[in-house]
Amino acid sequence: MEMKCSGSKQSDFDLTRRELLKLTAATGGALAAGRLLPGAAPPAAAQGANAPAAPVNVVLRVNGAEHRLTLDPRTTLLDALREHLHLTGSKKGCGLGHCGACTVLMDGKRVKSCLSLAALVDGREITTIEGLAQGERLHPLQAAFIERDAFQCGYCTSGQIMAGVACIAEGHAGSAQEIREWMSGNLCRCGAYDHIVAAIQDAAGATGSIRGG
Ligand code: FES
Ligand code: FES
Repeated sequence: MEMKCSGSKQSDFDLTRRELLKLTAATGGALAAGRLLPGAAPPAAAQGANAPAAPVNVVLRVNGAEHRLTLDPRTTLLDALREHLHLTGSKKGCGLGHCGACTVLMDGKRVKSCLSLAALVDGREITTIEGLAQGERLHPLQAAFIERDAFQCGYCTSGQIMAGVACIAEGHAGSAQEIREWMSGNLCRCGAYDHIVAAIQDAAGATGSIRGG
C-alpha cells in the first residue's frame, strides 16, 4: 500500500505528494475530509432528534480565539468545531470514543471531542490541529510525521498528532513500548503504527522530553 518512488531524482509526483503530506500533518487536510468516510456519522443536527431543544449560548476558546455560539445543547465539541467553526482538521470516525480521530487538547490534556458536549466545555482552552503550528513553523511532531511518513490516507493523523503531543507532555514517550501503550486509544486503519511511534520518539527527543531509563 505504501507509495515509494525509486531512484534518487525527485519527480513532480514526489513534490506534489510531499505538499499533500505537509498539508495533512498541518491541518488534517482535504485528503481526509469527513465526507470521504462512508461510515462517518451525520452532524448532531441530523442525528434523529425528534424535538428541537432550546438553544444555549456557549463561549468556546479555540486555538487562542474566543467564539460565541448559540448551539443545540446536544452538540458535541467535535460538531461545534467542524460544523460551526469550520475547523475540519479534527475528524469524525466512530463518534463513540473508540477511534481517537477526533482527539483535541483541553487545557493541555487530550480528550475525544466526540464525547464532550460543547456546552460543558464553555471557557476551557481547546487546541486543535489547526492551532499547533507557530505561523509557518510546524510543531516538531507535525514535522516528524512528515519526515517519518507516518500516515497514508491521513484520516487518523490529526488525532494521532494531538494524542502524540499529549503523550510526550505526559512523559509517556520513554520507549516504543510505552508509546504504543499510551497511544492505544488512537487507531490507524492503514496500519502506520511503526512510523507513528518513530515520529513520536523523534519529537520527544527533539523537545528533550524523553525520560531516562
Ligand atoms: S470519532 Fe472516534 S473517538 Fe471520537
Ligand atoms: S493513515 Fe489512514 S487511518 Fe491512519
